[in-house]
Amino acid sequence: MRDAAPTTIYLKDYTPFGFLVDSVHLTFDLAAHATRVTSRIAFRPNPEASDKTFFLHGEELKLIRASIDGVEISPVVTDKGLTADAPDAPFIWEAEVEIDPGNNTALEGLYMSNGMYCTQCEAEGFRKITFYPDRPDVMSTFTVRINGDLPVLLSNGNPSGKGEGWAEWTDPWPKPAYLFALVAGELIAHPGQFTTMSGRDVELNLWVRPGDEGKCAFGMEALKKSMKWDEDVYGREYDLDVFNIVAVDDFNMGAMENKGLNIFNSSAVLASPETSTDLNFERIEAIIAHEYFHNWTGNRITCRDWFQLCLKEGLTVFRDAQFTSDMRSAPVKRIHDAIDLRARQFPEDNGPLSHPVRPESFQEINNFYTATVYEKGAEVIGMLKRLVGDDAYAKALDLYFDRHDGQACTIEDWIKVFEDTTGRDLTQFKRWYSQSGTPRVTVTEDWNDGTYTLTLAQRTDPTPGQSEKLPQVIPVAVGLLGPNGDEVRGTEVLELTEAEQSFQFAGLAAKPVASILRDFSAPVILEHDHTDAGRAFLLAHDTDPFNRWQAGRSLAEDTLLRMILEDATPGADYLDGILAVLRDGELDPAYRALMLGLPTQSELAAALHDRGATPDPMTIWTAVETLRQATAQHVQDLLPRLHSETLIDASFGPDADQAGKRALGGAALALTARLDGGARAAEEYSASGNMTQQLSALSCLLRAGKGETELAAFYDQWKHDRLVMDKWFGLQVAMASPDETADIARTLTEHPDFNWKNPNRFRSVMGALAMNHAGFHRADGAGYALLADWLIQLDPVNPQTTARMCSAFQTWKRYDANRQELIRAQMTRIAETPELSRDTTEMVSRILDA
Ligand code: TRP
Ligand code: ZN
Repeated sequence: MRDAAPTTIYLKDYTPFGFLVDSVHLTFDLAAHATRVTSRIAFRPNPEASDKTFFLHGEELKLIRASIDGVEISPVVTDKGLTADAPDAPFIWEAEVEIDPGNNTALEGLYMSNGMYCTQCEAEGFRKITFYPDRPDVMSTFTVRINGDLPVLLSNGNPSGKGEGWAEWTDPWPKPAYLFALVAGELIAHPGQFTTMSGRDVELNLWVRPGDEGKCAFGMEALKKSMKWDEDVYGREYDLDVFNIVAVDDFNMGAMENKGLNIFNSSAVLASPETSTDLNFERIEAIIAHEYFHNWTGNRITCRDWFQLCLKEGLTVFRDAQFTSDMRSAPVKRIHDAIDLRARQFPEDNGPLSHPVRPESFQEINNFYTATVYEKGAEVIGMLKRLVGDDAYAKALDLYFDRHDGQACTIEDWIKVFEDTTGRDLTQFKRWYSQSGTPRVTVTEDWNDGTYTLTLAQRTDPTPGQSEKLPQVIPVAVGLLGPNGDEVRGTEVLELTEAEQSFQFAGLAAKPVASILRDFSAPVILEHDHTDAGRAFLLAHDTDPFNRWQAGRSLAEDTLLRMILEDATPGADYLDGILAVLRDGELDPAYRALMLGLPTQSELAAALHDRGATPDPMTIWTAVETLRQATAQHVQDLLPRLHSETLIDASFGPDADQAGKRALGGAALALTARLDGGARAAEEYSASGNMTQQLSALSCLLRAGKGETELAAFYDQWKHDRLVMDKWFGLQVAMASPDETADIARTLTEHPDFNWKNPNRFRSVMGALAMNHAGFHRADGAGYALLADWLIQLDPVNPQTTARMCSAFQTWKRYDANRQELIRAQMTRIAETPELSRDTTEMVSRILDA
C-alpha cells in the first residue's frame, strides 16, 4: 500500500537500537490461514544507545496478547509496529500473534508454496512473522518449536527435540532476524555427509518435494565441494551439526543463506542432464557455493545496517567467483563475469537507477539487491586484492574473521583490516563505495626513441544526486607485445589515481602494441582507439586470455557500429580473425565458443548513445543478423570439423570440459542453421540426449522460423516439469522475430500453464520479453504496454518481483522521442495505479525523475 509520503532512510541517521536481545524463543502452531506465533524474548538495555524507545517492527500481524515480565500490556500498534513502555533493566517480552501464510503471495515472511510452509526474511520479512527489532545489528540465539502435522519440520541450527507433530531447533550462534528460517512440508531428503577439517561430522540434507529426488545429486556434490574449498582457501570451517538446503518453487530470488537452513529457488538447485542445461549446472554450483560461503561472510560476520549490504554480498560474490574459477576455467569465468557486468551493471550505473556500491539512502531496501551492490561490489574486492597482492589479501581476511567474528560490521571495518594489514592509506580507494557511475578510461600513446608512453585519463559522468566526480584508484593491468607478437613486457598493474597520468616503458626495440585492462582488472569502460588491424593483432597474439577475447569482442563491436552508422559491410579483420581462432584446435572449446559471441543489442544501443547517435533497435537487429550471416558463410568450410571436434563419446557429465564442447558445438549449429535453414538442427533435436543440446537445437529452429512440431513435442515431453516448462515459455519469446515478440509473449500469457503468480514463470515470459531488445522496443509500443499491463497486475500480489522488473525501462532515455513518449506513458500509468506498492513506486519514480 502506498504511504502518504514515502519515507526515505539515510545511512547518516544510523543509531543503535536501545535494547540488546539475549535470547529468542519462538513457538509456531502451523495452520494455513491462522498460524499462531508465540515469542518469548529476553531484552536488556543497550549501554551503547541513548534512545531507549522500545519499538518493535511488526507488519500484517494480528496481535493476540503481549506482556512484559508476565504483566499483560496494551502497546500502541501501527501498521509499522508497536511501541511499549519498557523497564530500564533486563526484562522478558512475550507476545502471541496470528498470521495468514496461506494468503501470503508476496513470498516474504512465512508463506506457502505447494502445500509447504517456508520463510523468506531478508531483508525485512521477519517483521511479518512476529514483533521484533527487525534490523541486522540486533543479534541473538534462537530456539524454535514447530507444532504441525507435516512430516518434516525444520528451522535454523541443530535439532534439539522432536516428537509426534512437533520439532524443536536450537541455533547457538547469535544471528539477526533476517537469517531466521522455518520450513514444514512433505519433503524427501537427499542425504550427504561432510567431515570438517577439525574432524567434526556434519549431516547434510537436500530437501525436495516428491518427484524431484532425481535432481539432487549435483547440488549435494556442489555443497561438499564448497565446504572443502572454503576450508582450503579461506580456512573457514562449518559450525553446526547439520546443514539443510530446501528447494522451493515459489521464491523471489535465487536463494537465501539462512543459518544452517538455506532455502533455494528450485531453479537454483535442482538439476539433471535431461532437464538442465550446462549453464544451469554452472549457475547452480555457483549459487550453492554463494549461499554456503555466506555462513562466514554474512552470517558469522553480518551487516550493521542494510546500507552495508555489499559487505556480505560483494565479498560473497567475489568468493563464489573464485570458487568457480578454481572448479572450472578461470579465463572463461572472468569473461562470463565481464559479459554479465556489462549487460546488467553498466546500464544500471549509467542510467536513472545509478547508486553507489554502498547506497546512502533508500525507500525500500529490497530495491537495492542490485547488480551494483552484488557484482560491482565483488569487482571492488577484486581490485583491492590486485592492489595489495594475494598474500596481503589473505592476511587481511584472516584479520577480518578474527577481529569481527560475531559482529555486525560496516565497510569502514572492512577497509580498516586492509589498512592495518598493509599500512596503506585506502581513503581514495574507498570512493569505489561512495561514488556511483562507471569510470571511463581513455588511452593515448606515444612512441619516442625506444620509450613507449602510455597516458591514461579517467572521468565519470554525473549520476543522479552526484554531479561532481573525483578520480578513483583504478588498477590497470597492462602488458606489451612486440611487432611479431612476442610479449616484450609481462603484465604490470599500473595504479591510475589522478585524472590523467602517464606511464613510461623504456628500452624497447620497436613500438609495442599495448594490451590494456588485462583480466578486466577494473570495472571501467576502456576507450582505446585501436585500428581494426591493431585489434586483430591482439586477437591473434595476446597472451592474456581475457584481452584476447576482448580484442575479438571490440572488433565485433566496431564492425557492427560501422555497419549501423556508415552502412559498411563486415570487414575482413573480424571475419578472418574469428576464422583463425575457430581453427585453432589448441584453444579450449569453451573459449572458442565465447569468441563467437557478439555484444548484445542493448550494449550496441548504449555504445551508439555514447557516440551521440540515437539507437534504432531494428537497425541494430539487422546489423547483428547480417554479421551473423556473414560469419556463417565465412567459416562455412570449418563447420563440419567443429561438429566432429565437439562430439562427446562419454556419458553426460556437467563438467567444464564437456560443457565447453557442447557450447562450441551449439554455436557451430547455430551458424549452420543460417546456411541450411535448420535441417541439421532438426536432426540434432531428434538425436539430443540432454537438455543443453535439445534446447540449443530448438533455438536454432525457432530462430529460423521453424520448429513448430518440435515445440509441440517438447511441450508433451516436459509438461510435467515446471523448470523445463519455464524454458519452453522463455525460449519462444527469446527467439521470436522483432515484430512477433510482443504477440507471442501475449499469447503465452493466455496459456493454461502461465501461472503468473509464480515468479519463475512470470519472469520466463516477461523477462524474456524485456531481454528481446528489438522485440521489446517495437516501434508501436506493444512490448512496453504488455509489460506494463502485467506489472500492474502483479504489483498487489508480489511487489518485490514487480519492482525488480521495472528496470526493463531504465534505459529509456537512450531511444528516440517516440519511444521515450511511449515508455513515459506506460510508466506513468504504472505510477498512477491506486495502492501501488512502495517497492514499485520507488522504482518507477526513480526511473521517471532522473
Ligand atoms: N541474501 C540472498 C543472497 O544473495 C539474496 C536474497 C534471497 C534476497 N532472497 C531475497 C534478497 C529476498 C532480498 C529479498 O544470497
Ligand atoms: Zn548473497
